[in-house]
Amino acid sequence: MTFEEAHEKISALTKQINEHNYRYYILDSPLIGDYEFDMLLNELISLEKEYPSLILPDSPTQRVGGEITRRFQSVKHSNPMLSLANTYSENELEDFDKRTKNALYLDEIEYVCELKYDGVAISLIYENGVLQQAITRGDGIQGDDVTVNVKTIRSIPLRLHGHFPDKLEVRGEIIMPHDSFYVLNEEKEIAGESKFANPRNAAAGSLKLQNSSEVAKRNLDCFLYFVYTDTPLYNTHYEGLCALKTWGFKVSPHIRTCKNIEEVYTFINQWDIERKSLPFDIDGVVIKVNKYNLQDLLGYTAKNPRWAIAYKYKAERVLTSLLDISYQVGRTGVITPVANLKPVLLAGSVVKRASLHNADFISEMDIRIDDNVYVEKGGEIIPKIVAVEQSKRHAEAPPVQFITHCPACNTLLIRNEGEAAYYCHNLKECPPQIKGRLEHFISRKAMDIEGLGEGRIDILFEKGLVRNITDFYRLTYNDLFGIEKMYVNEQDNKERFVAFREKTVENLLNAIENSKNVPFDRVLFALGIRFIGESSAKKIAVHFKTIDALLKADFDDLIAVGDIGTKIAESIFSYFSDASNLQTIDNLRKVGLHFQLSDEELNETTISEKLKGMTFLVSGTFSTPERRKEIEQLIEKHGAVRATSVSKKLSFIIAGENMGPAKLEKAKKANIPIISEQDFLNLIETDE
Ligand code: IVH
Repeated sequence: MTFEEAHEKISALTKQINEHNYRYYILDSPLIGDYEFDMLLNELISLEKEYPSLILPDSPTQRVGGEITRRFQSVKHSNPMLSLANTYSENELEDFDKRTKNALYLDEIEYVCELKYDGVAISLIYENGVLQQAITRGDGIQGDDVTVNVKTIRSIPLRLHGHFPDKLEVRGEIIMPHDSFYVLNEEKEIAGESKFANPRNAAAGSLKLQNSSEVAKRNLDCFLYFVYTDTPLYNTHYEGLCALKTWGFKVSPHIRTCKNIEEVYTFINQWDIERKSLPFDIDGVVIKVNKYNLQDLLGYTAKNPRWAIAYKYKAERVLTSLLDISYQVGRTGVITPVANLKPVLLAGSVVKRASLHNADFISEMDIRIDDNVYVEKGGEIIPKIVAVEQSKRHAEAPPVQFITHCPACNTLLIRNEGEAAYYCHNLKECPPQIKGRLEHFISRKAMDIEGLGEGRIDILFEKGLVRNITDFYRLTYNDLFGIEKMYVNEQDNKERFVAFREKTVENLLNAIENSKNVPFDRVLFALGIRFIGESSAKKIAVHFKTIDALLKADFDDLIAVGDIGTKIAESIFSYFSDASNLQTIDNLRKVGLHFQLSDEELNETTISEKLKGMTFLVSGTFSTPERRKEIEQLIEKHGAVRATSVSKKLSFIIAGENMGPAKLEKAKKANIPIISEQDFLNLIETDE
């Protein structure tokens, strides 16, 4: 075959296979069977192997992934990705309708109703009909470039059909259908990995996987619901959606134009029932003003469009009886009461347990054993009790007596003033606390060591192989190979057999080794310091840059970090004042974990040192909330500290409009200079 012939053949096969993909994934009416399809694909794969320079950007072979992304690039959205205002009742919806009619001086407005897909928002950018970039919502202003991963989603066209504009941005929701979700969690369970709480988290987690060929296996799907073009091509949103369909996008068939708000209610009520048989999750209905010119007139508030609103369905709720209460000990020693329920079917799964949060919750709700309780599913695996059916209470049912001693180690429980939770303070020896810290350390958002889900940590703990987080880095092949045990899964009480076979051990040791690349902020989070969540760990890491600087920080330095309050500062102090914790850090450092920002992170977080040593407070409102955020980021990127309250430490206050009078008074008293946004920009303006 000549080069020219190969070129023609590759183009033809690419086109042909893409057409079959479109018929299969979008139109749901395939023309050929799986076998024929695979033959075509194999032919293309082998030709592309021989002539890699001829691979087309929309080649279907890109769908299988393979590219690895270490860090997703942060990209600014050309138009901010806003969210929708929520309503939960017909009354609130009626208000929206009235508001909109009044604003437009109209008696009736045509709306489009769509399902509110419960997934992850995505922005797709096409140039000349070819997918260029896929960006997550992020903070609405900038998101992550996840193009390689999104290209593996079969229902997202890599090249468009028909007459499309040269430049196009479309937005939609990436979702994980129920069956893919169940299969994924089953696999996670077998591999000893922690499961996803719901399909939305699973979709979000999948999009951020570093290996795109893993994403390809996740069977994600995408519905599009919004289109941006440089010049308006249509008059209505509905026409825009129809155009999306003709260009090859997947647009839900469950869309309806409604002549008035009554028709909107009909759509909402219909889907409140029918949503239960959809193969994916929705959490409501989105109502949009259909005509673009009316949308333009209505415009936007700082956060939401005024031309659209989300109606959210109330979570499903069932009545069941509370059999008894058990008490769990968390990694920080906090005691959580858990309700054991008479098993009941709720939103597709059997519920046996529900969180009771703390002693206050039990007494405020006046929950008693044998009560009939209403249970709802929130976003977490474990559902919650939302009400007690008082009318069915047994007359003599006594109030619940909260336990006084730790169910695991029998230490007397203590409740600090002002806190709702009881704690077991035996943190060094109480087994569930030790295991909890180990589980937290390896968890996805911390060191992300796969292959050590719940049951397996228990086994390693019982065998004395891991007691401290540093022990993971001492594990050897011989320690692990051959370990076998039955264990009982806490979620479903089912017995499972766990065996550390050759491949399991190899994968685990690799995962442990790879965890040495985890960035500083996640290492800090993984240490398990009380009250330090993912985002505060990030803020602390960006602020102090190295663990040594953090260790030297005094109390004031800590609370000077934006969003770090006294509770977190005290907790950090108490953690670092324990010699064994310092030893742990030292050991982990010797093993090679990151205890400072990488050069790349430093470059990203620092523009200059111009404001070094200064402390700024941003107060009042700015042109947009995003603008305020940008100013806050600039403060830190130029080496200064961002404070959240007025104190003598402040060098300047950057005031927007309507700064609070109390703050103003305090600032004047303390003699702190108040400057404008422009003054601040002048301060950081570069000389070059
Ligand atoms: S329209 C300007 N339509 O809900 C806002 N959003 O809180 C445009 N969502 O971030 C959004 N289904 O991720 C729109 N049919 C739908 C949607 C939808 C789900 C999500 C989207 C958005 C969030 C709004």
